[in-house]
Amino acid sequence: MRIRSNTYEKVCHLIASNIRDLVKHRETPVLGLATGTTPIGIYQELSRMRDTNFSSTITFNLDEYVGLNGWHPQSYNHFMYEHLFSNLTFHEKYFPTEKLYPYYDSMIDNVNGIDIQILGIGTNGHIAFNEPGTPRDSITRIVDLTENTIKDNSRFFDSIDEVPTRARTMGIETIMKAKRIYLVAQGSHKKEILEKAIHGEITPEVPASFLQEHPKCEVFYCE
Ligand code: GLP
Repeated sequence: MRIRSNTYEKVCHLIASNIRDLVKHRETPVLGLATGTTPIGIYQELSRMRDTNFSSTITFNLDEYVGLNGWHPQSYNHFMYEHLFSNLTFHEKYFPTEKLYPYYDSMIDNVNGIDIQILGIGTNGHIAFNEPGTPRDSITRIVDLTENTIKDNSRFFDSIDEVPTRARTMGIETIMKAKRIYLVAQGSHKKEILEKAIHGEITPEVPASFLQEHPKCEVFYCE
């Protein structure tokens, strides 16, 4: 597996174009969506695709905080409306909510799986909210966030005490079942962990390292 370096604009454009191709050719396309700063450029590109009809596309978001209602400005539900869902019409948009998360993996299986999964990476190697120590066979569940993640994500909140300490997240197995995965890491602070994840040992201590075993995962690094 190799890491492809390019500008953020080019990477976002490439991924958004591949999503457009999928959406044009599949009857019911299924996308796995990520939050965080990294995918925003992809969502901006998609939002500009006024010639593409997303109304038969189903989306599954990777994760959501426990304890924030969907309209809290820092909830991932709110994030998705702000950056994508208020711009385009989708068929269904799912989040691992309190009600849905126990059924999330079967819901994904029932629509024949995720065609394209977008992923970012945490500075500790997490994907979605699968923190170091997560086993390969994990599915959608509630997890405790590590101090590192709470600290990283506190930049979006007024104070660190407001950051939820738990989240509902797709598991590694859920993510690995996606037919195609695009992992994007942006910024020099992600370089070291990305190298470790993609060229280092495959270990639960670096959850993103399991992606090395995925047959169709493309990895991008942007300065
Ligand atoms: C959060 C999300 C991850 C995301 C990570 C990195 O913890 N749960 O899905 O990949 O942040 O975010 P950013 O792109 O802002 O660095």
